[in-house]
Amino acid sequence: MPSEKIFITRSHIIPEAIAYLDGIYDVEVWQQNSPPPRELLLEKVQEFGAMLTEVTDIIDADLLDAATTLKVVANRAVGLDNIDIPAATRNGILIGNTPGVLHESCADFTFGLMLALARNIAYGERKIRAKEWTVFDQIPYLGTDVHGATLGIIGMGLIGTAVARRARAFDMRIIYNSRTRKPEVESALDAEWRDDMDSVLRESDYVSLHMPLTPDTEYMIGGRELEMMQSTAFLINTTRGRTVNPRDLYDALSSGVIAGAAIDVTDPEPIPFNDPLLTLDNLLVTPHIASASRQTVRRMGQMSADNIIAAIKGEAMPGCVNPDALAMG
Ligand code: GLV
Repeated sequence: MPSEKIFITRSHIIPEAIAYLDGIYDVEVWQQNSPPPRELLLEKVQEFGAMLTEVTDIIDADLLDAATTLKVVANRAVGLDNIDIPAATRNGILIGNTPGVLHESCADFTFGLMLALARNIAYGERKIRAKEWTVFDQIPYLGTDVHGATLGIIGMGLIGTAVARRARAFDMRIIYNSRTRKPEVESALDAEWRDDMDSVLRESDYVSLHMPLTPDTEYMIGGRELEMMQSTAFLINTTRGRTVNPRDLYDALSSGVIAGAAIDVTDPEPIPFNDPLLTLDNLLVTPHIASASRQTVRRMGQMSADNIIAAIKGEAMPGCVNPDALAMG
Protein backbone atom coordinates (compact mmCIF):
# COMPACT_ATOMS: atom_id res chain seq x y z
CA MET A 1 0.00 0.00 0.00
CA PRO A 2 1.53 3.39 -0.93
CA SER A 3 2.38 5.58 2.06
CA GLU A 4 0.05 8.50 2.75
CA LYS A 5 1.31 11.80 1.27
CA ILE A 6 1.49 14.78 3.59
CA PHE A 7 2.05 18.37 2.53
CA ILE A 8 3.43 20.77 5.17
CA THR A 9 3.19 24.48 4.39
CA ARG A 10 6.25 25.75 6.32
CA SER A 11 9.67 24.22 6.90
CA HIS A 12 11.27 25.94 9.89
CA ILE A 13 8.55 26.36 12.54
CA ILE A 14 8.11 22.79 13.77
CA PRO A 15 11.16 20.77 12.65
CA GLU A 16 10.61 18.05 15.29
CA ALA A 17 7.03 17.40 14.14
CA ILE A 18 8.13 17.36 10.49
CA ALA A 19 10.90 14.85 11.25
CA TYR A 20 8.42 12.73 13.19
CA LEU A 21 5.92 12.62 10.30
CA ASP A 22 8.71 12.13 7.77
CA GLY A 23 9.69 8.94 9.58
CA ILE A 24 6.25 7.47 8.93
CA TYR A 25 4.80 8.98 5.76
CA ASP A 26 5.73 10.48 2.41
CA VAL A 27 6.24 14.11 3.44
CA GLU A 28 6.70 17.17 1.21
CA VAL A 29 7.52 20.52 2.78
CA TRP A 30 7.11 24.00 1.28
CA GLN A 31 10.55 25.51 1.85
CA GLN A 32 9.77 29.21 1.80
CA ASN A 33 8.95 31.36 4.80
CA SER A 34 5.64 32.52 3.35
CA PRO A 35 2.37 30.76 2.50
CA PRO A 36 2.50 28.54 -0.60
CA PRO A 37 0.74 30.15 -3.59
CA ARG A 38 -2.87 29.26 -4.13
CA GLU A 39 -2.25 27.46 -7.45
CA LEU A 40 0.17 25.16 -5.66
CA LEU A 41 -2.33 24.41 -2.88
CA LEU A 42 -4.90 23.64 -5.58
CA GLU A 43 -2.53 21.02 -6.98
CA LYS A 44 -1.69 19.61 -3.54
CA VAL A 45 -5.33 19.00 -2.56
CA GLN A 46 -5.59 16.74 -5.60
CA GLU A 47 -2.51 14.72 -4.77
CA PHE A 48 -1.99 14.67 -0.98
CA GLY A 49 -4.04 12.99 1.75
CA ALA A 50 -3.13 15.42 4.53
CA MET A 51 -1.96 18.99 4.96
CA LEU A 52 -0.36 20.65 7.97
CA THR A 53 -1.11 24.37 7.76
CA GLU A 54 -0.51 27.72 9.48
CA VAL A 55 -3.10 30.43 10.20
CA THR A 56 -2.03 32.41 7.13
CA ASP A 57 -2.84 29.58 4.72
CA ILE A 58 -6.28 30.27 3.28
CA ILE A 59 -8.22 27.01 3.09
CA ASP A 60 -11.49 28.27 1.64
CA ALA A 61 -14.53 26.61 0.07
CA ASP A 62 -13.17 26.74 -3.50
CA LEU A 63 -10.01 24.94 -2.44
CA LEU A 64 -11.87 22.35 -0.37
CA ASP A 65 -14.45 21.75 -3.13
CA ALA A 66 -11.58 21.11 -5.54
CA ALA A 67 -9.94 18.57 -3.22
CA THR A 68 -10.00 15.00 -4.47
CA THR A 69 -7.44 13.22 -2.27
CA LEU A 70 -7.43 15.35 0.88
CA LYS A 71 -8.73 13.67 4.06
CA VAL A 72 -7.42 15.92 6.81
CA VAL A 73 -6.08 19.43 7.41
CA ALA A 74 -4.23 19.94 10.70
CA ASN A 75 -4.01 23.66 11.42
CA ARG A 76 -1.14 24.51 13.78
CA ALA A 77 -3.34 26.88 15.76
CA VAL A 78 -6.35 26.93 17.97
CA GLY A 79 -8.06 29.57 15.78
CA LEU A 80 -9.63 28.27 12.56
CA ASP A 81 -10.82 31.43 10.84
CA ASN A 82 -8.52 30.64 7.88
CA ILE A 83 -10.49 27.47 7.14
CA ASP A 84 -14.04 27.13 5.83
CA ILE A 85 -15.23 24.44 8.25
CA PRO A 86 -18.70 23.80 6.68
CA ALA A 87 -17.03 23.35 3.27
CA ALA A 88 -14.53 20.91 4.79
CA THR A 89 -17.31 18.94 6.47
CA ARG A 90 -19.44 18.63 3.35
CA ASN A 91 -16.37 17.42 1.46
CA GLY A 92 -15.61 14.82 4.15
CA ILE A 93 -12.36 16.54 5.17
CA LEU A 94 -11.46 16.46 8.87
CA ILE A 95 -10.09 19.67 10.39
CA GLY A 96 -7.71 19.53 13.34
CA ASN A 97 -6.58 22.32 15.66
CA THR A 98 -4.53 22.58 18.86
CA PRO A 99 -6.64 23.50 21.88
CA GLY A 100 -5.37 22.74 25.36
CA VAL A 101 -1.66 23.24 24.68
CA LEU A 102 -1.27 26.98 24.20
CA HIS A 103 -3.65 28.74 26.59
CA GLU A 104 -1.14 29.19 29.43
CA SER A 105 1.46 30.72 27.09
CA CYS A 106 -1.16 33.02 25.56
CA ALA A 107 -2.28 34.08 29.03
CA ASP A 108 1.31 34.84 30.09
CA PHE A 109 1.66 36.99 27.00
CA THR A 110 -1.66 38.76 27.53
CA PHE A 111 -0.55 39.71 31.01
CA GLY A 112 2.78 40.83 29.65
CA LEU A 113 1.03 43.13 27.17
CA MET A 114 -1.25 44.51 29.86
CA LEU A 115 1.63 45.31 32.21
CA ALA A 116 3.86 46.66 29.44
CA LEU A 117 1.10 48.97 28.22
CA ALA A 118 -0.22 50.17 31.56
CA ARG A 119 3.21 50.79 33.11
CA ASN A 120 4.82 52.21 29.96
CA ILE A 121 7.44 49.46 29.82
CA ALA A 122 7.57 49.35 26.03
CA TYR A 123 7.15 53.12 25.72
CA GLY A 124 10.02 53.77 28.16
CA GLU A 125 12.25 51.35 26.29
CA ARG A 126 11.39 53.04 22.97
CA LYS A 127 12.40 56.40 24.45
CA ILE A 128 15.78 55.13 25.64
CA ARG A 129 16.60 53.64 22.24
CA ALA A 130 15.49 56.88 20.58
CA LYS A 131 18.10 58.62 22.81
CA GLU A 132 15.35 60.65 24.50
CA TRP A 133 16.03 59.67 28.15
CA THR A 134 18.37 62.46 29.16
CA VAL A 135 17.31 63.27 32.72
CA PHE A 136 15.82 61.37 35.66
CA ASP A 137 12.15 62.34 35.44
CA GLN A 138 9.43 59.76 35.98
CA ILE A 139 6.54 62.06 35.18
CA PRO A 140 6.47 61.48 31.38
CA TYR A 141 6.32 57.75 32.12
CA LEU A 142 3.59 57.70 34.75
CA GLY A 143 1.54 54.58 34.29
CA THR A 144 -1.64 53.05 35.66
CA ASP A 145 -1.80 50.27 38.24
CA VAL A 146 -2.85 46.81 37.18
CA HIS A 147 -3.23 45.34 40.67
CA GLY A 148 -6.61 46.03 42.17
CA ALA A 149 -8.13 47.18 38.85
CA THR A 150 -11.17 45.68 37.09
CA LEU A 151 -10.39 43.27 34.28
CA GLY A 152 -13.13 42.60 31.74
CA ILE A 153 -12.74 39.37 29.80
CA ILE A 154 -14.72 38.86 26.62
CA GLY A 155 -14.69 35.16 25.78
CA MET A 156 -14.11 32.89 28.79
CA GLY A 157 -12.64 29.88 27.02
CA LEU A 158 -9.38 28.21 28.01
CA ILE A 159 -7.30 31.32 27.30
CA GLY A 160 -9.72 33.74 28.99
CA THR A 161 -9.82 31.48 32.04
CA ALA A 162 -6.02 31.28 32.20
CA VAL A 163 -5.90 35.10 32.05
CA ALA A 164 -8.47 35.27 34.87
CA ARG A 165 -6.34 32.92 36.97
CA ARG A 166 -3.39 35.30 36.65
CA ALA A 167 -5.64 38.27 37.42
CA ARG A 168 -6.53 36.67 40.77
CA ALA A 169 -2.89 36.86 41.79
CA PHE A 170 -2.93 40.58 40.93
CA ASP A 171 -5.98 41.13 43.17
CA MET A 172 -8.02 42.24 40.20
CA ARG A 173 -11.78 42.25 40.11
CA ILE A 174 -12.81 40.02 37.20
CA ILE A 175 -15.97 40.50 35.15
CA TYR A 176 -16.77 38.66 31.94
CA ASN A 177 -19.14 37.97 29.10
CA SER A 178 -18.91 34.89 26.93
CA ARG A 179 -20.99 32.79 24.52
CA THR A 180 -21.72 30.46 27.42
CA ARG A 181 -21.78 31.25 31.11
CA LYS A 182 -19.10 29.42 33.14
CA PRO A 183 -20.32 28.87 36.72
CA GLU A 184 -17.22 26.80 37.54
CA VAL A 185 -14.94 29.72 36.60
CA GLU A 186 -17.12 32.09 38.60
CA SER A 187 -16.79 30.03 41.75
CA ALA A 188 -13.12 29.06 41.30
CA LEU A 189 -11.86 32.53 40.38
CA ASP A 190 -14.52 34.82 41.81
CA ALA A 191 -15.36 36.09 38.32
CA GLU A 192 -18.60 38.02 37.86
CA TRP A 193 -20.87 37.29 34.90
CA ARG A 194 -22.32 40.12 32.83
CA ASP A 195 -25.28 39.41 30.52
CA ASP A 196 -23.96 41.62 27.77
CA MET A 197 -20.61 42.72 26.42
CA ASP A 198 -21.54 46.39 26.76
CA SER A 199 -21.60 46.13 30.57
CA VAL A 200 -18.11 44.62 30.51
CA LEU A 201 -16.89 47.45 28.29
CA ARG A 202 -18.41 50.11 30.56
CA GLU A 203 -17.15 48.74 33.87
CA SER A 204 -13.61 47.61 33.06
CA ASP A 205 -10.24 49.29 33.49
CA TYR A 206 -8.76 46.65 31.18
CA VAL A 207 -10.74 44.82 28.50
CA SER A 208 -9.10 41.65 27.17
CA LEU A 209 -10.50 39.98 24.06
CA HIS A 210 -10.50 36.18 23.88
CA MET A 211 -13.42 35.27 21.61
CA PRO A 212 -12.66 33.44 18.36
CA LEU A 213 -13.02 35.27 15.04
CA THR A 214 -16.30 34.16 13.45
CA PRO A 215 -18.84 35.98 11.25
CA ASP A 216 -20.50 37.04 14.54
CA THR A 217 -17.38 38.53 16.09
CA GLU A 218 -15.91 40.19 12.99
CA TYR A 219 -15.37 43.90 13.85
CA MET A 220 -17.32 43.31 17.06
CA ILE A 221 -15.35 46.16 18.65
CA GLY A 222 -15.91 49.36 16.69
CA GLY A 223 -16.52 53.05 17.42
CA ARG A 224 -19.69 52.42 19.42
CA GLU A 225 -18.05 49.86 21.69
CA LEU A 226 -14.88 51.90 22.20
CA GLU A 227 -17.04 54.91 23.15
CA MET A 228 -18.58 52.78 25.92
CA MET A 229 -15.20 52.20 27.53
CA GLN A 230 -13.84 54.58 30.14
CA SER A 231 -11.40 57.21 28.91
CA THR A 232 -8.85 55.74 31.37
CA ALA A 233 -9.35 52.17 30.15
CA PHE A 234 -7.10 49.94 28.05
CA LEU A 235 -7.94 47.36 25.36
CA ILE A 236 -5.87 44.19 24.95
CA ASN A 237 -6.31 42.05 21.84
CA THR A 238 -4.57 38.70 21.51
CA THR A 239 -7.29 36.91 19.54
CA ARG A 240 -7.60 38.06 15.90
CA GLY A 241 -7.06 41.50 14.42
CA ARG A 242 -10.36 41.45 12.56
CA THR A 243 -12.39 41.46 15.80
CA VAL A 244 -11.56 45.18 16.15
CA ASN A 245 -12.17 47.86 13.52
CA PRO A 246 -8.67 49.31 13.08
CA ARG A 247 -9.77 52.74 11.88
CA ASP A 248 -12.14 53.12 14.85
CA LEU A 249 -9.33 52.00 17.13
CA TYR A 250 -7.06 54.67 15.67
CA ASP A 251 -9.74 57.33 16.20
CA ALA A 252 -10.36 56.23 19.79
CA LEU A 253 -6.68 56.15 20.68
CA SER A 254 -5.78 59.41 19.00
CA SER A 255 -8.70 61.35 20.45
CA GLY A 256 -8.48 60.02 24.02
CA VAL A 257 -11.69 57.98 23.91
CA ILE A 258 -9.65 55.20 25.56
CA ALA A 259 -6.24 55.42 27.24
CA GLY A 260 -4.37 52.79 25.24
CA ALA A 261 -4.37 49.48 23.45
CA ALA A 262 -2.01 46.53 23.27
CA ILE A 263 -2.56 44.31 20.26
CA ASP A 264 -0.74 41.14 19.27
CA VAL A 265 -2.95 40.79 16.20
CA THR A 266 -3.73 43.32 13.50
CA ASP A 267 -5.95 43.80 10.48
CA PRO A 268 -4.33 43.13 8.06
CA GLU A 269 -1.33 41.05 9.12
CA PRO A 270 1.45 41.98 8.93
CA ILE A 271 0.40 45.55 9.72
CA PRO A 272 1.61 47.86 6.90
CA PHE A 273 4.60 50.00 7.95
CA ASN A 274 2.64 53.14 7.13
CA ASP A 275 -0.46 52.20 9.14
CA PRO A 276 -1.49 55.29 11.15
CA LEU A 277 -1.82 53.14 14.29
CA LEU A 278 1.97 52.86 14.34
CA THR A 279 2.31 56.61 14.88
CA LEU A 280 0.58 56.41 18.28
CA ASP A 281 2.50 56.26 21.55
CA ASN A 282 -0.47 54.76 23.39
CA LEU A 283 -0.49 51.69 21.14
CA LEU A 284 1.67 48.67 21.86
CA VAL A 285 1.83 46.19 19.01
CA THR A 286 3.53 42.81 18.66
CA PRO A 287 3.75 40.43 15.65
CA HIS A 288 1.14 37.73 16.50
CA ILE A 289 3.34 35.86 18.98
CA ALA A 290 1.12 35.23 22.01
CA SER A 291 1.45 31.45 21.69
CA ALA A 292 5.06 31.59 20.53
CA SER A 293 7.11 30.17 23.37
CA ARG A 294 9.58 27.46 22.34
CA GLN A 295 7.78 24.88 24.44
CA THR A 296 4.30 25.73 23.18
CA VAL A 297 5.20 25.91 19.49
CA ARG A 298 6.79 22.47 19.85
CA ARG A 299 3.65 21.14 21.57
CA MET A 300 1.43 22.64 18.86
CA GLY A 301 3.57 20.98 16.19
CA GLN A 302 3.35 17.61 17.92
CA MET A 303 -0.40 17.90 18.37
CA SER A 304 -0.81 18.78 14.68
CA ALA A 305 1.25 15.73 13.73
CA ASP A 306 -0.82 13.57 16.10
CA ASN A 307 -4.01 14.94 14.52
CA ILE A 308 -2.81 13.82 11.11
CA ILE A 309 -1.69 10.39 12.29
CA ALA A 310 -4.98 9.75 14.10
CA ALA A 311 -7.04 10.86 11.09
CA ILE A 312 -5.08 8.63 8.73
CA LYS A 313 -5.48 5.66 11.08
CA GLY A 314 -9.19 6.36 11.44
CA GLU A 315 -8.79 7.06 15.17
CA ALA A 316 -10.16 9.96 17.24
CA MET A 317 -8.02 13.05 16.63
CA PRO A 318 -6.68 14.87 19.75
CA GLY A 319 -8.22 18.10 18.41
CA CYS A 320 -10.93 17.93 15.75
CA VAL A 321 -13.65 20.51 15.12
CA ASN A 322 -15.72 18.58 12.59
CA PRO A 323 -15.84 14.85 13.36
CA ASP A 324 -19.14 14.90 11.39
CA ALA A 325 -17.00 15.05 8.24
CA LEU A 326 -16.42 11.31 8.58
CA ALA A 327 -20.07 10.66 7.85
CA MET A 328 -19.71 12.58 4.56
CA GLY A 329 -16.51 10.86 3.45
C1 GLV B 1 -2.81 31.46 16.97
O1 GLV B 1 -3.12 32.54 16.60
C2 GLV B 1 -3.75 30.40 17.18
O2 GLV B 1 -4.92 30.52 16.79
O3 GLV B 1 -3.34 29.37 17.73
